[in-house]
Amino acid sequence: MRYANQPIAVVIAETLEAATEGAALLSPQYEARSPRVGLDAGESFVPAAVGVGNPATVQRGDVEAALATAARRIDATYETPAQYHNPMEPHAIVAVWDGDGLSIDTPSQSLALAQGRIAGLFGISPEKIHIRSPFLGGGFGSKGMISGPQILGILAARLVGKPVKLVLRREQMYGPVGHRAPTRQRLRIGADSDGKLTAIDHHAKTTSSTFDDFFEPAADVSHTLYASPAVATSHEVVRIDTGTPMFMRAPGEATGSIALESAIDEAAQACGMDPLAFRLKNYAEVEPISGKPFSSKALRYCYAQGAERFGWSRRPLAPRQMRDEAGFLVGWGMGTATFPAYMFQAEARAVVRRDGSGLVETGAHEMGQGAGTALAQIAADGLGLELEQVEFRTGTSDLPDAGIAGGSSHTATAGMAIHNAGAAVIAKLSDLATGDERSPLFGASNAGVVARGGRLFHRDDESRSESYAAILGRAGLTEVAARGQSAADPAAQSTYAMHAHGAVFAEVKVDPDLGQIRATRVVGAFAAGRVINPRLARSQLLGGMIWGVSFALHEHAVMDRRSGRTLNANLAEYHVPVNADVPSLKALMIDEHDPHVNALGIKGVGEIGITGSAGAVANAVWHATGIRVRRFPIRIDDLLMPA
Ligand code: MOS
Repeated sequence: MRYANQPIAVVIAETLEAATEGAALLSPQYEARSPRVGLDAGESFVPAAVGVGNPATVQRGDVEAALATAARRIDATYETPAQYHNPMEPHAIVAVWDGDGLSIDTPSQSLALAQGRIAGLFGISPEKIHIRSPFLGGGFGSKGMISGPQILGILAARLVGKPVKLVLRREQMYGPVGHRAPTRQRLRIGADSDGKLTAIDHHAKTTSSTFDDFFEPAADVSHTLYASPAVATSHEVVRIDTGTPMFMRAPGEATGSIALESAIDEAAQACGMDPLAFRLKNYAEVEPISGKPFSSKALRYCYAQGAERFGWSRRPLAPRQMRDEAGFLVGWGMGTATFPAYMFQAEARAVVRRDGSGLVETGAHEMGQGAGTALAQIAADGLGLELEQVEFRTGTSDLPDAGIAGGSSHTATAGMAIHNAGAAVIAKLSDLATGDERSPLFGASNAGVVARGGRLFHRDDESRSESYAAILGRAGLTEVAARGQSAADPAAQSTYAMHAHGAVFAEVKVDPDLGQIRATRVVGAFAAGRVINPRLARSQLLGGMIWGVSFALHEHAVMDRRSGRTLNANLAEYHVPVNADVPSLKALMIDEHDPHVNALGIKGVGEIGITGSAGAVANAVWHATGIRVRRFPIRIDDLLMPA
């Protein structure tokens, strides 16, 4: 056994009851050895890369020299626990083989990756694999790659030559389908006597499994938020008896951000400065490591508008100064939010039909975030049609590859492919019209027409127009179709640092006698480029902010050090916020036009909400109590019996 909860057998039966009984009859014998658990379980090493190919160690300037001469210094160590994704829908699969063809129903955040992985494992060509994943009941990264249990379902189907359905029970999701690895992060920060940062050193230690590689890139967030002439980030890893960790909503940014934002708060305190004033003095306008500029004007708006809406200017500098009418200690804290604006590769196909309707196809991933709606909106816009006129086919592997629904990139990546496919269809329609003397658009150039309401209009004379139906009818065509691709623009990528930004302000109330903590109010202001659907984007931001509250106050997979098992491997004892834990939340969306990320100006909103929020809540707890807790989640006993 490599870890607790590792699958060791699959019982296949005609009914769930029979399979369950069969599994209960198994009596495996174990020879028990002491598990290696925790961050100190063994020798650590520096991995070749962290996250998805980022260097483990990065340095600019001389951090040690800058720290040695700094007027103000902090040196603090923070710990974050293992967390588990717990999407509402567990990993599940129905698989059936037909010769060497394979048909699968299973949730996936990346159909093409899943197809490629299964093809490699079973030695069949990807085209032989058909995956349907029309909807996911959440994923948070745990369905980014096909998991071991899903592969077991495929193996079982091959063994019995029939369709097999395999669904993980909730407790079975603690191990074989990934988790957020625990971290211990040491932050050393130096500042001059004016409160200007002179050094940031961020070192993260984390864990991975004994048999596979995923290394939480926790320190990388310090590349991107604050300006300092000397910056160093580094990682080390200990292999322990655990399932392999995985991407989990804002992998690296979430863990790193709560430590960095706490440390920045401590640095502000050491400089005797208001935390917002300190951040305004030190936020990065250019990426400290690469020297590439950010769209930092948007971040300034986030600070200003978030602070204004929250009422930050009334915050006393010293902690433990505010009480509410019931006598609870009140504290206000803040954090800066950031997440990279990724663009991956995708493809889409668009069609305009003779009846004036449209069709757009791409294998996108609807996991509750609203991709189906936002992408269909982009499709309709691109084709110059109303949303109701466009059929959007998605969620299966036989459609063009929509890339991964991860890294908060899906709307940008799949959306740009859809946009480009639509533009290609419109260009074909335009060629048909402008090259035909019988068309009112004859002689207009391709760039001289605009598509709107199912018609092409002459750009300079809108009285000249023609419907798609008329253009296709005259040409004797039933439809016109085209494909579009998307990918990052290497020229823009090498010139600009591409991130979404935000600022989060939190209020907590702490019972001075019982230590009970309630987050009561969180205001976040986010600049994430062009927002396609404000209602969906707001919902994503709120979800992230709630996760931030959860990170600071609730989530914690508790390890039994004797058995190596997670003690609270279920939804009853693994604390996530319920309605009563969720404060009054406000997500302000700052209008941002970033022409460099992609032609539509879209960044992403899926993950940034966690960053900033977790630190803001933690900093508010300090401001309420005067107690700086550096191990998360913050618990009642941390406040009653401070270390
Ligand atoms: Mo996410 S962790 O990019 O699904």
